[in-house]
Amino acid sequence: MAELTPARTPKTLTDLNRDWFDTAVAAGAFEIPWIKDLTKLISSSLRNNFEWLGVPQHDGGIKLLDYACGNGVVSMALSPSITEAIGIDLSPNMVTAYNTLSQSQQLSSKLSAIQGDLLSPSTPQDPNFFNFDIIVMSMALHHVFDTQLMINKLHKRLRDGGVLVIIDWLTMELGGSGHGYRHPNDDSEGRNGEGEKVTPAAHTVAHWGFSEEEMKSLFENVGMVDVGFMEGIEKSKVPAEMNYEQQMFIAKARKVTSH
Ligand SMILES: C[S@@+](CC[C@H](N)C(=O)[O-])C[C@H]1O[C@@H](n2cnc3c(N)ncnc32)[C@H](O)[C@@H]1O
Repeated sequence: MAELTPARTPKTLTDLNRDWFDTAVAAGAFEIPWIKDLTKLISSSLRNNFEWLGVPQHDGGIKLLDYACGNGVVSMALSPSITEAIGIDLSPNMVTAYNTLSQSQQLSSKLSAIQGDLLSPSTPQDPNFFNFDIIVMSMALHHVFDTQLMINKLHKRLRDGGVLVIIDWLTMELGGSGHGYRHPNDDSEGRNGEGEKVTPAAHTVAHWGFSEEEMKSLFENVGMVDVGFMEGIEKSKVPAEMNYEQQMFIAKARKVTSH
């Protein structure tokens, strides 16, 4: 009797993201000029607008969760203003890159990362992974299919009065003459009108950006208040071959203080 070949389980978006980012960081993605420019912009925008974020002040210092931390751009940028940062990322290679960078900057007692996914049942439940004063998820919400579930999970990790900050791309114009990372003519797998693969990470993307209204309702649906939205940050040049432009935003909201 012929042997049956077990059916292949299709990869989930989580698997695709982990594989992609594991390979990307190992291949030196953070050295690519447009990515370097973007990380500089994220860093300066966070530093220059730290007051606007409205992190609650109390005697215990400021504890940051850098969710989907990558190699630690957010933690590094905010390190002068915080007491402790914990990074969590799906990709083990990103976590290694984060911890290597924090060690090389003599910051390892303050900034450390672990591999994890808040959407997975094995997500860390240790009390140290709760009660954050500020949680930042930078350039990663667009990789998550169920954005509302992710916002719920992040919200649960905040202390009362803590702030959740999402940095991402404004909805890309998929029609008219607007240029987005995904050009109007590109298909959902990142191929242009000639069938060339011009957006190689397209298969890891669940949402082509967010509008202010979408961010507001994601926050308000979990009962968050003091929603703020900052755009008008300089536009970013992104491939395909640097003719595309995208607008980054910073959105924030506060967890209600219970009495
Ligand atoms: C574009 S990078 C951004 C990294 C960093 N936050 C920054 O701003 O430079 C996206 C990161 O999200 C991570 N990621 C994607 N989905 C995730 C999830 N469900 N949970 C945790 N990390 C995730 C990837 O592994 C990757 O490191």
